[in-house]
Amino acid sequence: MPENMKRLFGIIGNPVGHSLSPAMHNAALTALGVDGIYLPIQPENLEDEFRRLREDGFVGVSVTIPYKVAVMDLVDRLDPMARKIGAVNTLFFQDEPAGRRCTGYNTDWLGAERALAEVLDLAGARVLLIGAGGAARAVGFGLARAGAELFLSNRSEEKGKALAAQLNCPFVPLEQLSAVRAEALVNTTSVGMAPDTEAMPLPVELIPRFGVVMDIVYAPLETRLLREAARCGCRTVDGLRMLLYQGAAQFRLWTGLEAPVEVMRQSLLTALAARHS
Ligand code: ATR
Repeated sequence: MPENMKRLFGIIGNPVGHSLSPAMHNAALTALGVDGIYLPIQPENLEDEFRRLREDGFVGVSVTIPYKVAVMDLVDRLDPMARKIGAVNTLFFQDEPAGRRCTGYNTDWLGAERALAEVLDLAGARVLLIGAGGAARAVGFGLARAGAELFLSNRSEEKGKALAAQLNCPFVPLEQLSAVRAEALVNTTSVGMAPDTEAMPLPVELIPRFGVVMDIVYAPLETRLLREAARCGCRTVDGLRMLLYQGAAQFRLWTGLEAPVEVMRQSLLTALAARHS
């Protein structure tokens, strides 16, 4: 690709129109004076779109629902953490002697780790994870790698036990959560997301047990879980933090530049407010 060409970035997903990532990444590119653009892309056919991204000279592409697993079959190389988590949220295309090659990464785990590490020393910290879906896998493997001691709970025991076994941590049924002693709680489920904003992933009376409560839901930004946690004096980490820091990790990978996280967070807040107006 010619050096003077505008650098192309984007996100593939379906639907992709509501994604906050274009606002976040374009703000970062502008703030650092990078001559590039980050576009929302809704593929008609994933394989065709992947080929087009490679041919058109895209540098970095975020991957969101429903393509995070399917895209793993299309990349030339897979980062070990992406393989372990079983999902790719980041494509990085690079020119090599043999041609343009694409590596699939996962930065969701980096986002979760950085978000929680801002308020808690993760090495040896006891963390209760609620959920056993794709988000739980990324958060779980990330926090385990950082040295946290995990406990996992989930509505479906079968799914919860399967992920707990992979994370090598105890599975705790929801009705036995009062037996868990942990410093931090992380909700990785969609419980509490609009429109059902009064729903809680665990009984409210258990919240004061935790020093830190993190939610991955960001619509609303202050979920009921975080509101109750703040009322109990817990430190809270909102769902935009993980989104922000996974994006910051992508930006650094693609550009080699430290991401301007304050600018990016502001752009996320603005885009989120615009989405609801
Ligand atoms: P994602 O990839 O975003 O994590 P997912 O794979 O569908 O999405 O996982 C959703 C998670 O939220 C699961 O842990 C799910 O629990 P089950 O395994 O029991 O389905 C959890 N979840 C979703 N809605 C829920 C609800 N109303 N109550 C409790 N848990 C819920």
